[in-house]
Amino acid sequence: KNNQQLSGKRVLITAAGTREPIDPVRYIGNRSSGKMGYALAEAAAVRGAEVLLVSGPSNLAVPPGITVKRVETAAQMRDAVLAEFDNVDIVIKAAAVADYRPELPSEQKIKKSDNTLTITLIKNPDILRELGEKKKPHQLLIGFAAETQDLLVHAREKLIKKNLDLIVANDVTLPGAGFNIDTNIVKLIHKNGDIEELPQLSKKQVAEILIDKIYAMMTKST
Ligand code: C5P
Repeated sequence: KNNQQLSGKRVLITAAGTREPIDPVRYIGNRSSGKMGYALAEAAAVRGAEVLLVSGPSNLAVPPGITVKRVETAAQMRDAVLAEFDNVDIVIKAAAVADYRPELPSEQKIKKSDNTLTITLIKNPDILRELGEKKKPHQLLIGFAAETQDLLVHAREKLIKKNLDLIVANDVTLPGAGFNIDTNIVKLIHKNGDIEELPQLSKKQVAEILIDKIYAMMTKST
Protein backbone atom coordinates (compact mmCIF):
# COMPACT_ATOMS: atom_id res chain seq x y z
CA LYS A 1 0.00 0.00 0.00
CA ASN A 2 1.33 3.38 -1.00
CA ASN A 3 1.45 5.61 2.05
CA GLN A 4 3.34 8.44 0.36
CA GLN A 5 0.15 10.37 -0.45
CA LEU A 6 1.80 13.69 0.32
CA SER A 7 4.99 13.23 -1.66
CA GLY A 8 5.76 16.38 -3.62
CA LYS A 9 3.67 18.47 -1.22
CA ARG A 10 5.16 21.14 1.00
CA VAL A 11 3.53 21.50 4.39
CA LEU A 12 4.12 24.30 6.88
CA ILE A 13 3.15 23.52 10.47
CA THR A 14 3.32 25.84 13.46
CA ALA A 15 3.54 24.42 16.95
CA ALA A 16 3.90 25.29 20.63
CA GLY A 17 3.22 28.63 22.26
CA THR A 18 4.81 32.02 21.77
CA ARG A 19 6.55 34.04 24.49
CA GLU A 20 6.13 37.78 24.64
CA PRO A 21 8.87 39.59 26.58
CA ILE A 22 8.06 41.78 29.58
CA ASP A 23 11.72 42.50 30.34
CA PRO A 24 15.00 40.63 29.66
CA VAL A 25 14.10 37.81 32.07
CA ARG A 26 10.29 37.60 32.00
CA TYR A 27 7.64 36.83 29.45
CA ILE A 28 3.95 36.19 28.95
CA GLY A 29 3.42 32.65 27.77
CA ASN A 30 0.82 29.90 27.68
CA ARG A 31 0.51 26.19 28.47
CA SER A 32 0.99 24.84 24.94
CA SER A 33 3.57 22.02 24.81
CA GLY A 34 3.81 21.60 21.04
CA LYS A 35 2.68 17.95 21.21
CA MET A 36 -0.16 18.32 18.69
CA GLY A 37 1.93 20.28 16.18
CA TYR A 38 4.95 17.98 16.42
CA ALA A 39 2.68 14.94 15.95
CA LEU A 40 1.24 16.56 12.83
CA ALA A 41 4.71 17.29 11.49
CA GLU A 42 5.68 13.65 11.96
CA ALA A 43 2.47 12.31 10.40
CA ALA A 44 2.89 14.56 7.34
CA ALA A 45 6.57 13.58 6.93
CA VAL A 46 5.74 9.87 7.22
CA ARG A 47 3.35 10.33 4.29
CA GLY A 48 6.11 11.82 2.18
CA ALA A 49 5.53 15.56 2.58
CA GLU A 50 8.32 18.06 2.80
CA VAL A 51 7.66 19.54 6.24
CA LEU A 52 8.72 22.88 7.64
CA LEU A 53 7.98 23.20 11.34
CA VAL A 54 7.88 26.71 12.79
CA SER A 55 8.05 26.14 16.51
CA GLY A 56 7.83 28.22 19.60
CA PRO A 57 9.88 27.04 22.60
CA SER A 58 9.29 23.31 23.21
CA ASN A 59 11.23 20.48 24.83
CA LEU A 60 10.09 17.95 22.25
CA ALA A 61 12.48 16.25 19.86
CA VAL A 62 12.03 17.23 16.23
CA PRO A 63 11.03 14.10 14.28
CA PRO A 64 13.53 12.97 11.64
CA GLY A 65 13.50 14.54 8.20
CA ILE A 66 11.81 17.74 9.31
CA THR A 67 13.22 21.23 8.91
CA VAL A 68 12.61 23.33 11.98
CA LYS A 69 12.68 27.08 12.37
CA ARG A 70 12.63 28.10 16.02
CA VAL A 71 10.95 31.32 17.07
CA GLU A 72 9.94 32.91 20.32
CA THR A 73 7.48 35.74 19.77
CA ALA A 74 4.34 36.01 17.65
CA ALA A 75 6.12 38.62 15.52
CA GLN A 76 8.96 36.18 14.79
CA MET A 77 6.46 33.44 14.03
CA ARG A 78 4.67 35.76 11.62
CA ASP A 79 7.93 36.60 9.81
CA ALA A 80 8.87 32.92 9.52
CA VAL A 81 5.43 31.89 8.26
CA LEU A 82 5.03 34.74 5.77
CA ALA A 83 8.52 34.07 4.37
CA GLU A 84 7.43 30.54 3.40
CA PHE A 85 3.72 30.88 2.67
CA ASP A 86 3.99 31.32 -1.10
CA ASN A 87 6.12 28.16 -1.34
CA VAL A 88 3.81 25.76 0.47
CA ASP A 89 0.66 23.82 -0.41
CA ILE A 90 -0.72 23.24 3.06
CA VAL A 91 -0.51 25.25 6.28
CA ILE A 92 -1.56 23.82 9.63
CA LYS A 93 -1.51 26.39 12.42
CA ALA A 94 -1.40 24.36 15.61
CA ALA A 95 0.57 26.99 17.55
CA ALA A 96 -0.91 28.85 20.49
CA VAL A 97 -0.02 32.35 19.40
CA ALA A 98 -0.27 35.13 21.99
CA ASP A 99 -3.09 37.51 21.14
CA TYR A 100 -1.38 40.38 23.03
CA ARG A 101 2.16 41.46 23.84
CA PRO A 102 3.63 44.02 26.25
CA GLU A 103 3.67 47.31 24.38
CA LEU A 104 7.13 48.37 25.53
CA PRO A 105 9.26 45.54 26.95
CA SER A 106 11.60 47.00 29.56
CA GLU A 107 15.27 47.03 28.52
CA GLN A 108 16.30 46.37 32.12
CA LYS A 109 14.88 43.90 34.59
CA ILE A 110 11.88 45.51 36.26
CA LYS A 111 12.57 46.18 39.95
CA LYS A 112 10.12 45.32 42.69
CA SER A 113 8.50 48.35 44.27
CA ASP A 114 5.77 48.96 46.84
CA ASN A 115 3.27 49.86 44.15
CA THR A 116 1.21 47.73 41.82
CA LEU A 117 2.72 47.15 38.39
CA THR A 118 0.71 47.76 35.26
CA ILE A 119 1.80 46.35 31.92
CA THR A 120 0.04 47.66 28.85
CA LEU A 121 -0.66 44.97 26.28
CA ILE A 122 -1.20 45.64 22.60
CA LYS A 123 -2.68 43.31 20.03
CA ASN A 124 -0.53 40.93 18.03
CA PRO A 125 -1.24 40.43 14.33
CA ASP A 126 -3.42 37.39 13.61
CA ILE A 127 -1.11 35.34 11.41
CA LEU A 128 -3.74 32.86 10.30
CA ARG A 129 -6.13 35.61 9.30
CA GLU A 130 -3.43 37.19 7.13
CA LEU A 131 -2.80 33.84 5.49
CA GLY A 132 -6.54 33.45 4.85
CA GLU A 133 -6.49 36.75 2.97
CA LYS A 134 -3.47 35.72 0.87
CA LYS A 135 -4.54 32.12 0.25
CA LYS A 136 -4.37 30.86 -3.35
CA PRO A 137 -6.88 28.32 -4.70
CA HIS A 138 -4.37 25.46 -4.57
CA GLN A 139 -3.52 26.11 -0.91
CA LEU A 140 -5.21 24.54 2.10
CA LEU A 141 -5.37 26.34 5.41
CA ILE A 142 -6.12 24.47 8.62
CA GLY A 143 -6.52 26.16 11.99
CA PHE A 144 -7.00 25.11 15.58
CA ALA A 145 -9.43 26.52 18.09
CA ALA A 146 -8.84 25.91 21.78
CA GLU A 147 -11.89 27.05 23.70
CA THR A 148 -13.24 26.90 27.21
CA GLN A 149 -16.87 27.63 26.28
CA ASP A 150 -19.24 27.62 23.28
CA LEU A 151 -16.73 25.53 21.36
CA LEU A 152 -18.59 25.07 18.08
CA VAL A 153 -19.86 28.63 17.88
CA HIS A 154 -16.41 30.14 18.35
CA ALA A 155 -14.69 27.62 16.13
CA ARG A 156 -17.15 28.21 13.28
CA GLU A 157 -16.66 31.96 13.62
CA LYS A 158 -12.90 31.52 13.29
CA LEU A 159 -13.24 29.24 10.29
CA ILE A 160 -15.24 31.91 8.47
CA LYS A 161 -13.35 35.01 9.68
CA LYS A 162 -9.96 33.49 8.84
CA ASN A 163 -11.07 31.91 5.53
CA LEU A 164 -10.01 28.39 6.57
CA ASP A 165 -10.68 25.08 4.87
CA LEU A 166 -10.88 23.19 8.14
CA ILE A 167 -10.74 24.00 11.83
CA VAL A 168 -9.89 21.57 14.60
CA ALA A 169 -11.84 22.51 17.70
CA ASN A 170 -11.01 21.30 21.16
CA ASP A 171 -12.55 22.11 24.51
CA VAL A 172 -9.47 22.51 26.68
CA THR A 173 -11.48 22.10 29.90
CA LEU A 174 -12.35 18.44 29.14
CA PRO A 175 -10.25 15.81 30.90
CA GLY A 176 -8.36 14.03 28.11
CA ALA A 177 -8.11 17.13 25.92
CA GLY A 178 -5.94 20.20 25.63
CA PHE A 179 -2.57 21.39 26.82
CA ASN A 180 0.46 19.30 27.67
CA ILE A 181 -1.15 15.86 27.67
CA ASP A 182 -0.82 13.05 25.13
CA THR A 183 -4.49 12.77 24.23
CA ASN A 184 -7.02 15.08 22.65
CA ILE A 185 -10.75 15.18 21.97
CA VAL A 186 -11.49 17.19 18.84
CA LYS A 187 -14.24 18.15 16.48
CA LEU A 188 -13.39 18.80 12.84
CA ILE A 189 -15.40 21.56 11.26
CA HIS A 190 -15.27 21.75 7.49
CA LYS A 191 -15.78 24.80 5.29
CA ASN A 192 -19.11 23.37 4.06
CA GLY A 193 -20.39 23.13 7.64
CA ASP A 194 -19.86 19.39 8.11
CA ILE A 195 -18.82 18.46 11.62
CA GLU A 196 -16.98 15.29 12.57
CA GLU A 197 -16.62 14.42 16.24
CA LEU A 198 -13.65 12.24 17.11
CA PRO A 199 -13.44 10.27 20.35
CA GLN A 200 -10.59 10.69 22.83
CA LEU A 201 -7.46 9.65 20.94
CA SER A 202 -3.74 10.08 21.29
CA LYS A 203 -2.43 13.24 19.65
CA LYS A 204 -0.53 10.97 17.23
CA GLN A 205 -3.80 9.31 16.18
CA VAL A 206 -5.52 12.70 15.81
CA ALA A 207 -2.58 13.82 13.67
CA GLU A 208 -2.83 10.78 11.38
CA ILE A 209 -6.58 11.23 10.94
CA LEU A 210 -6.12 14.90 10.17
CA ILE A 211 -3.44 14.24 7.58
CA ASP A 212 -5.77 11.68 5.94
CA LYS A 213 -8.60 14.27 5.86
CA ILE A 214 -6.27 16.84 4.35
CA TYR A 215 -5.26 14.38 1.65
CA ALA A 216 -8.94 13.71 0.92
CA MET A 217 -9.64 17.46 0.71
CA MET A 218 -6.71 17.91 -1.69
CA THR A 219 -7.85 15.21 -4.03
CA LYS A 220 -11.43 16.48 -3.98
CA SER A 221 -10.48 20.04 -4.93
CA THR A 222 -8.30 19.12 -7.92
O1 C5P B 1 -6.26 32.73 18.87
P1 C5P B 1 -7.31 31.95 18.10
O2 C5P B 1 -8.12 31.08 18.99
O3 C5P B 1 -8.11 32.78 17.14
O4 C5P B 1 -6.46 30.92 17.23
C1 C5P B 1 -7.09 30.16 16.25
C2 C5P B 1 -6.10 29.81 15.19
O5 C5P B 1 -5.42 30.99 14.72
C3 C5P B 1 -5.00 28.85 15.60
O6 C5P B 1 -4.81 27.98 14.51
C4 C5P B 1 -3.81 29.75 15.84
O7 C5P B 1 -2.60 29.09 15.60
C5 C5P B 1 -4.03 30.87 14.85
N1 C5P B 1 -3.51 32.18 15.28
C6 C5P B 1 -2.54 32.84 14.54
N2 C5P B 1 -2.09 34.08 14.92
C7 C5P B 1 -2.58 34.66 16.03
C8 C5P B 1 -3.57 34.01 16.79
C9 C5P B 1 -4.01 32.77 16.40
O8 C5P B 1 -2.10 32.30 13.53
N3 C5P B 1 -2.11 35.86 16.38
